[in-house]
Formats: sequence, structure tokens, C-alpha cells
Amino acid sequence: MNHIVVPAIINLDVKGPVISRHVYGHFAEHLGRCIYGGFYVGEDSDLPNAGGIRLDVVDALRALNIPNLRWPGGCFADEYHWKDGIGPKDQRPVMVNTHWGNVEENNHFGTHEFMALCELLGAEPYISGNVGSGTVQEMSDWVEYLTREGDSPMVRLRKANGRDEPWRVRFWGLGNEAWGCGGHMTAQQYAAEARRYGTYCRDHGGNRLYRVAAGANSDDYAWTETLMKTLGDLGCAYRPQPFYQALSLHYYTIPGTWDDKGDATVFDTDDYYRTMVQAARVDELLTGHSTVMDCYDPGRNVGLVLDEWGTWWNVEPGTNPGFLYQQNTLRDALVAGLHFDIFHRHAGRLVMANIAQTVNVLQAMILTDPDSGALVLTPTYHVFEMNKAHQDAASLRVDIPSGVPGREVGTATLRTVSVSASRKDGRVLVSMSNLDAGEAVDVELDLRGGAVTDVHARILTADRPQAHNTPETPDAVAPRTHQQVTATAAGLRVHLPAHSFVTVQGRLA
Ligand code: AHR
Repeated sequence: MNHIVVPAIINLDVKGPVISRHVYGHFAEHLGRCIYGGFYVGEDSDLPNAGGIRLDVVDALRALNIPNLRWPGGCFADEYHWKDGIGPKDQRPVMVNTHWGNVEENNHFGTHEFMALCELLGAEPYISGNVGSGTVQEMSDWVEYLTREGDSPMVRLRKANGRDEPWRVRFWGLGNEAWGCGGHMTAQQYAAEARRYGTYCRDHGGNRLYRVAAGANSDDYAWTETLMKTLGDLGCAYRPQPFYQALSLHYYTIPGTWDDKGDATVFDTDDYYRTMVQAARVDELLTGHSTVMDCYDPGRNVGLVLDEWGTWWNVEPGTNPGFLYQQNTLRDALVAGLHFDIFHRHAGRLVMANIAQTVNVLQAMILTDPDSGALVLTPTYHVFEMNKAHQDAASLRVDIPSGVPGREVGTATLRTVSVSASRKDGRVLVSMSNLDAGEAVDVELDLRGGAVTDVHARILTADRPQAHNTPETPDAVAPRTHQQVTATAAGLRVHLPAHSFVTVQGRLA
């Protein structure tokens, strides 16, 4: 059967910016069953655990080489007081998690438990501090508690809690969504706060902080501009002060409305395409925010951090609306694959991205059954795994000639074939998605400036985009070896069935 052929030109010998491994970052909030019941089950659990941290979850995530983990929120971060989460567990105060389900939070998972989790995962911690309801002193103390060596009040407190050596914690968020749950501030108000918090969150010893200012919601370019201008304000200094090293951005894929976002597993073809159009919009947003940043920072020293992204559906029927528990289908996996192609293209400015959220919340990698504890790897998990060789690889530009037809979706045109590529250590990885719900395509990889040998291809697809994994059918959507790759005079021809994600890896000859 003849399929549409889409050419994709890759110059193997022209290296683009390095794709930071941190764009494969994660996010774990005290929300629903992400921390409690997801990552953390407590020492008394029957499930294998280390200090209460679920080991099967750790093992599954280690296979993704997850580079960093953002914690404790989200909206929760701006209500969290870190000193409530240290010391003997039975003496830790209980609080109410007002954002997420109005449930009690016993603070059993706190700073030491989070750092232990990061060590088990081999991931760098990314801590979001409390600007909304905390104090500058509180965040400054937290930095000192975690990172200072020698002797000081916070060091003595840390040692009293059983940890002599400081940890290394580079990434600090100066609040979260300051325009919303983080304090409902104007950009100018927040910029002033960010300067104060940025000033007093100190570098202790060799621990150089990478401070991330709470950035824009979606297409609020004025917010980004205010924060960029603020970096250049002199105040009483002689030169611009590095109050923060990066700005964040949040963007969720929601094809419906906030009141009715759509169902995770029950959707039709129109819903599917609307989802892809919304996902593709992240390209426009990264371009827009990068362009604003370029005006003030043409050398690209300030990073852009998309520290919340992913699909957001209506919660699964019968679950707590405040827990944001949703299933995850092949459609979600294709949304992830599309995001990564776009992230790779923005490698020059995008230094980090964090999918929301790792376990049991929103577009999760792992779902756990609240009763049996059974663990399921989602289709999205597999995209992270199949793409992991892009981490810290040099991006390779991919050109798809104009004239390749897209699909009309409302007033938008969806490019249904998405491709990105990178090279590292003499190996090449090409990721490809066919977002068309009904038509297969062949991608003709026109490889110039080199050749690729020892090719191995894998595919993630299913008979329908609604397919998903459950404890009974854990591998309904799982990667398989893909045989439909053939050598051509120019490179490789790769067959992509409808709604499929394919990776091709090979050695640079
Ligand atoms: O990820 C869920 C929530 O979405 C986060 O807490 C918040 O930052 C965002 O609005």
C-alpha cells in the first residue's frame, strides 16, 4: 500500500544547542496520591520501601534517568512551612492542604525524606520555596539548612536531625504561580518580591544557587518582560544583580474548558485533534517568551524553565476532585512526544521542563492502585524512556520541506508529522510522531553529512488512541521493536502507522 511520504532532512554534522537533560524533569506535589500513597507509603507499609519510600516506584523511575524532581508544589509550595516537616515524625504539626482536597497533611514527608528520595532516584532536587505565605527569612533558613557546611544555627538544627553533611541543592523556585495561587500578585509586585527573595537566598560554600523566578501563565508575555526588565534594574548597585538565573512558565494542554476539560479515556477524533492542536501551542509560547527574553538577554544567559506542563483532564469518575487523578492513554503519550520535539528545537533557551506530575496526578508516569498497591507504567512513561538518549545530546535540526499537508482543525492547521533528532557519543536518536488518527505515513529521513549504521527502531502505538494500561493489562501500550525501517539511497525510510510514536537509534558511521 502506498502511503504519504514525508521527507525530513537532517544534517548529521551540524550540531545545534545541547538539549539539557533537565527538560526531562519531573514534578511531585503534596497533592492527592502523588506523595502519600505514590512515592511515600511509610516505614510500616507491606510494600518494599526504604524509609517509607516505595522502591518499585524508585526502580521504575530510575530507568528513565530522571534528572531532577521539583517539590513540594505547585500551589502547595506557597502554603508549606518547611520547619513543620523536620524532626521526629510524631512531633511534626498537622496542617490542612487547602488547595488540594482540604485533607490533613501530617508532614511525615518533609525535607529529609525528599532528599532521600532524590538520592534514591539519582535526581537533582528542585525546591519551590514559599513566597505567597512565607517569609524571606524562612526561605533563607531553608537554603542554609540544606546547603551550608561548618557551623551555623541552621547547620546545628540539621545535625540535630541526623544529617551532618550539607546537601547540594542548586535549583530553587522563588514561589509558584505568583499571579494566581502563589499570592495573586501583579508582575510588578512579584518582581519586587523576587528581588528580595533572590537576595537573601544565598550561595553557601560551593553550592551555587540557580534561582527560578515564578514566571508567566501561558501567553502572558508582559509578565516575562517585567521580570526581564527587573534583572536589569540597577537600584543602588553598579551592575545588574543576578537575583534569579531563570524564569518559569506554566502551560497545560486542555482541549476543553477549565470547568469541563474533557475525559482522559472517553474521547472522539475531534477531541483528539483538538488536544494535539493545544499541545502544539507550546511551540508558539516558547517562541514568544524566548523572543521577549532575547530582547533583554541576547546572550541567552537567563534560562527559561517550563516547570509545569502536560495534559489536564477531568478526574476519573468517583475520585476526589481535589486529587487530580486521571488515566493516561496513547493520546497522552503522543502529547509528550510532541512536547519533546518542540523542547529539542528550543534547546538554546529552554533549560528545564517538568511534567506534571510523576505519580498518580495529572499526566503521570506511574499510576498506583489505592487498594492493591499495583503499579502501572503509563504510555507517557514509555515516551520518556524511549527518548532518554536525547538528554544532554547535541540537537540536530530537522527540516520538513514546505508543502507537506497538515490537517485542518477548526481554524488551526495541525502538522501531523513531528520529528526531532540529536547526537551524542557517536550515536544518533531520531524521534518521530504520526499524529494523524487514521492515516499512516512514511518518513523519508534524508541524512546528510554522515551515515547511520546498526539501526534499531522501536514503536509505541495501539489499535486506538484511547488505549491505556491497567493492572490487568499493563502492557496494552508498551514499546515494541519496529521492523518497518528500510535503508534508502539518502538514508532511511520509516513507516509510521496512524497515532504512533517511533524512535530510531543508530551509530554514526
Ligand atoms: O499541577 C497542579 C497545579 O497546577 C499546581 O499546583 C499549580 O502550580 C498549577 O496551577
